[in-house]
Amino acid sequence: MSFANKVIIVTGSNRGIGKAIAFELAKQGAWVVLNGRNETRLMAALNEIQGQCPKTIAIPADVSTKEGANTLIEDTYSHFGRIDGLVNNVGLSSRGTIAELSPEVIGQIFESNVYGAIFPTIYALPYLRKTQGSVVFISSLAGIRGLPGLGPYCAAKMALRAFVESIRIEEKKHKVHAGIVLVGKTEIVENKEAIGADGNFVVLKPRKDKKIQSMEQVAKATLKSMRKRKYIITLTPLGKVNLFLQARIPLLVEKLILKNIHKFEEGNQ
Ligand SMILES: NC(=O)c1ccc[n+]([C@@H]2O[C@H](COP(=O)([O-])OP(=O)(O)OC[C@H]3O[C@@H](n4cnc5c(N)ncnc54)[C@H](OP(=O)(O)O)[C@@H]3O)[C@@H](O)[C@H]2O)c1
Repeated sequence: MSFANKVIIVTGSNRGIGKAIAFELAKQGAWVVLNGRNETRLMAALNEIQGQCPKTIAIPADVSTKEGANTLIEDTYSHFGRIDGLVNNVGLSSRGTIAELSPEVIGQIFESNVYGAIFPTIYALPYLRKTQGSVVFISSLAGIRGLPGLGPYCAAKMALRAFVESIRIEEKKHKVHAGIVLVGKTEIVENKEAIGADGNFVVLKPRKDKKIQSMEQVAKATLKSMRKRKYIITLTPLGKVNLFLQARIPLLVEKLILKNIHKFEEGNQ
C-alpha cells in the first residue's frame, strides 16, 4: 500500500504516539485526519502537520462514545469522500492491583481502550470495504498476558486482539486488512497520566532509559502494519520473546515475572 493521497484517520493524535503516526503518514503523502478531545492541542498539532501536508484536517471528538466515533468517521467521509485507513491509537493505562481496584476504573479503562477502538471501527468498516482499506489497533506488550499492577489495561488490550482476529476473518471477502501493533515501553509526553486503582489520575515519571522506544519507531511499525497488511507486529526483543514464550510455556513466564516483580513495580511508576 502506498500512502500517497490515501485518507487515513488516526484517533488520539493531538500528542504522543498518535501524533507521531500522523506525522509519519503525512511525510509519506497521506491525507491525515487528526483527532482528540482537547481542541487547543488538536489545533496546535494541525498547524504543525499542515506544514508537511496542507490536506490534513482535524476533527475533535470523544471516540469512546458512539456519537463521537460516528462524528469522526462521517465528517471524514463528508470531507474527503473516501476512507482508506483507520489507526485506533486512543488508550489509557491503569495502575494498581485488582484487590485495590475501584470497580469504576474498569469501566473507564474499557471505555477508552476498547470502546474507543471498536466504535470508530464499526462506523468505518463500510467505507474501508469500498477502498479495500486497513484498520490497525495500537495495543501493548501488556496485551500479551496479564501483568502485575496493570490488570485492567492488560485485559482491555487483550480484548483488541480478539476483535482483530474476528475482523480479519469476517472482512477477508471484502479485502479489508486488520492488524495489531504490540507496543513496548515508549517515550511519553510530559505529565502523561494513568488512572490509579482508586480512580484518581497519577502522573507517570519521565522515561529516560536507553531501552525505551521512540515514538517514531512505533509510528514506523504502524505504517509497516498497513503497508504490508500484517497480522501482528511485536516491538522490542523482549516483546518478541514474551510473545513466543507466553504461547508455549506460560508458567515459565509467570515464574520469570515473580522473580523480577520488583522491576515491574518500579517500571509501573
Ligand atoms: N507510551 C507507551 O509507553 C505505550 C506503550 C504501549 C502501548 N501504548 C499505547 O499507545 C497509545 C498511545 O499512547 P500515548 O503514550 O501516546 O498516550 P497519550 O500521550 O496519553 O496520548 C493519548 C492521545 O489520545 C487522545 N485521547 C484520549 N482519549 C480519547 C478519546 N476518548 N477520544 C479521542 N481522543 C482521545 C489524547 O488527547 P485528548 O486527551 O485531547 O483527547 C491524546 O492525543 C495508547 O493506546 C497506549 O495504550 C503506549
